[in-house]
Amino acid sequence: MKITTKINLMTTAWILCVLLAVNAVVFFSFMKITVNMENVELLQKADNVIREMKMADSPLKIKEIFTPYLTNHNFIRTVQSNSKITDQATNDQFLAAKIKPKYVHKKETERRTIRRNDKEEQILIVRVPDSSGAITLEVAEKLSGLELAKDVLLSILAFCTIFGALLALLGGRWLSNLIMRPITNMINTMEDIEQSGIPKKIIIQHETKDELQKMAVTFNRMIGRLETNLEKQRQFISDASHELKTPLTVIKSYADLLLRRGLQNEEVAHDAIESIHSEATRIQKMTERFLDLADTESGDLLEIKLIHLVSFCENIFKQLKSAYKREISLHYQDASISAAADELKLKQAIIILIDNAIKYSTDKIDVYLEGNEQYTIITVKDYGIGISEFEIDNIFERFYRVDKARSRETGGTGLGLAIAKNIMKQHQGEIKVKSTEGVGTEVGLFLPKWKVGKELFLNDQNIND
Ligand SMILES: Nc1ncnc2c1ncn2[C@@H]1O[C@H](COP(=O)(O)OP(=O)(O)OP(=O)(O)O)[C@@H](O)[C@H]1O
Ligand SMILES: [Mg+2]
Repeated sequence: MKITTKINLMTTAWILCVLLAVNAVVFFSFMKITVNMENVELLQKADNVIREMKMADSPLKIKEIFTPYLTNHNFIRTVQSNSKITDQATNDQFLAAKIKPKYVHKKETERRTIRRNDKEEQILIVRVPDSSGAITLEVAEKLSGLELAKDVLLSILAFCTIFGALLALLGGRWLSNLIMRPITNMINTMEDIEQSGIPKKIIIQHETKDELQKMAVTFNRMIGRLETNLEKQRQFISDASHELKTPLTVIKSYADLLLRRGLQNEEVAHDAIESIHSEATRIQKMTERFLDLADTESGDLLEIKLIHLVSFCENIFKQLKSAYKREISLHYQDASISAAADELKLKQAIIILIDNAIKYSTDKIDVYLEGNEQYTIITVKDYGIGISEFEIDNIFERFYRVDKARSRETGGTGLGLAIAKNIMKQHQGEIKVKSTEGVGTEVGLFLPKWKVGKELFLNDQNIND
């Protein structure tokens, strides 16, 4: 069943229930009030008759007293203590016969239903003892006014209920359409996206500031993000193919040369094979970087551990020093300085910074471990070529290299800092760079301290020595 139909039916059913409950209250209150009023009137009548009976000088006149009080459907009678009728006046013999006489000691009211010609009639009876207590005056009257009013009231209530239900049905329809319009809009847009494969935003016609608009705005935000990501992906594919094109062209031309000239000229062949090898190595390095980039952009869960930075960095430097034969010094004030991070990812980020320092400087490299209230900071400082202030904002962009020719020499792909930035983003940290051309560069990894949660400190097994 469609949600609009559901809302429609449910609101109608609910309003119908409310109407029925209200009608029931109105109906029963009306009946009770009317019967009470009739009761008061009948008791008044009985009191009047008793008063007149007391004043009557002869018992023969009693019936004459009753006569002015007679209507078409009532009776007035006196009943003795043995329940025998002494006097009675009525225009409705059937009614008088149906109600048995009853002697009472104190005032009494009774409501009775009788059947006449297959129809029910409501009868109100009052019994009042006279002052001596010898006889009871019994007055009974058909509640014909009540029956008429009851029928009219029932018709009015039934009409109101049907009218109310119809209004509820129409109102429910309008309401459900109002609620569903943005949702239907969204469904249509989603179907469009599914069919065309192109992200598309919902057109928000009115500023309603309600939950539905919020939903549409959230949807549009999500689509916006998707568009940006798709654009990034497109850009990445185009950049990556462009980067791969150069080494592949070099490989192909040297392979062509080998095919044409064969191995006759050993020197040429040797040069060609060397170039093919170096370009293939470059492609291999590049694809590794692509995978690293994809990995750090995927937003995978990190394996956060508490890392003792001094021993952690010393281990990394040991490996790098043996490969690059460069002097890397570690500086710190607190030997127990630690950070909560993913070990492998942090190692990758540090290596990227040291690799840059090695590539773009020839002097020594300093690494500082510090902490402030918010962050634990790892800074890699070199005294090399530096970066101009115009270039500094671009170096975190993918494939961006300040000096392309030099980067080619050093084998750079321009992805290192983009990967390091992603890693810091995954840790909810930051990466900052300070550099002066010709003087040197300082790149800092800022790891937020709040990540070092209590539970991490409590769990000693997590501490990496
Ligand atoms: N320490 C530094 N000194 C001078 N220039 C730097 C330094 N670090 C980065 N750069 C500049 O920023 C650019 C981007 O650096 P990034 O590490 O992203 O790429 P890369 O080193 O060229 O290649 P990759 O790291 O992927 O092998 C570099 O090409 C270089 O021009
Ligand atoms: Mg680099």
